[in-house]
Amino acid sequence: MATATRPPEPRALDGWRDTLRGRADRGGHGTSESLTPEQLSRRRFIVSSFWTGLGVTVAGALGGAVDYLYPRNVAGFGGPVPAGNVADFPAGGDPTQFRVGQFWLMNLDPAETRPGGSGGAAGLLALWRKCPHLGCAVPWNTTVTVDRDSEGWFRCPCHASTYNKAGVLVAGPAPRSMDTMQIDLDDAGEITVQTGMISNGGTDNPSRAITHPLLPT
Ligand code: FES
Repeated sequence: MATATRPPEPRALDGWRDTLRGRADRGGHGTSESLTPEQLSRRRFIVSSFWTGLGVTVAGALGGAVDYLYPRNVAGFGGPVPAGNVADFPAGGDPTQFRVGQFWLMNLDPAETRPGGSGGAAGLLALWRKCPHLGCAVPWNTTVTVDRDSEGWFRCPCHASTYNKAGVLVAGPAPRSMDTMQIDLDDAGEITVQTGMISNGGTDNPSRAITHPLLPT
């Protein structure tokens, strides 16, 4: 037979509430509303210390990764590339290819007045091998003859853009002459080509050649 449960007297409910409130006030797991200012301050200190420590740890890890990955003294394309000594480059000699730096280096001779020659320039010039048309690697071809008396041109194998020894465009669909790279020379004539410092090619390419007292003439 079911028995009816009598609801607690209002007086008894008040007693439970008083008991729970008393526990919270004595430092139990109460809400922030029930903590003293000292307890709140300690909680905030612990929380802020945690986040500060986590931030320092993450920043340290990221800094270490960036430091590890940051390129220094890059020796390939995009950085400085050693290219020998000026004494290695005879005036009017064929261009030398440096595959690691993706450039051609030559000592232009103003006496090489043929159409595919120096364009009247004297000195070292570094040309980026990438064709300004669609990016094919441009070879120096000693057997290409653009006119009967002039062998030796830069001739792109993709669409036949053709450039003289100073990289000046003479034929083909390329929008401009071959791009040039900055050359640094020290007192002893050691050559460094800055493959990350590239200038758009132009008809003034010959004037970008640089000289050095030890450069063969
Ligand atoms: S990529 Fe060189 S001519 Fe087109």
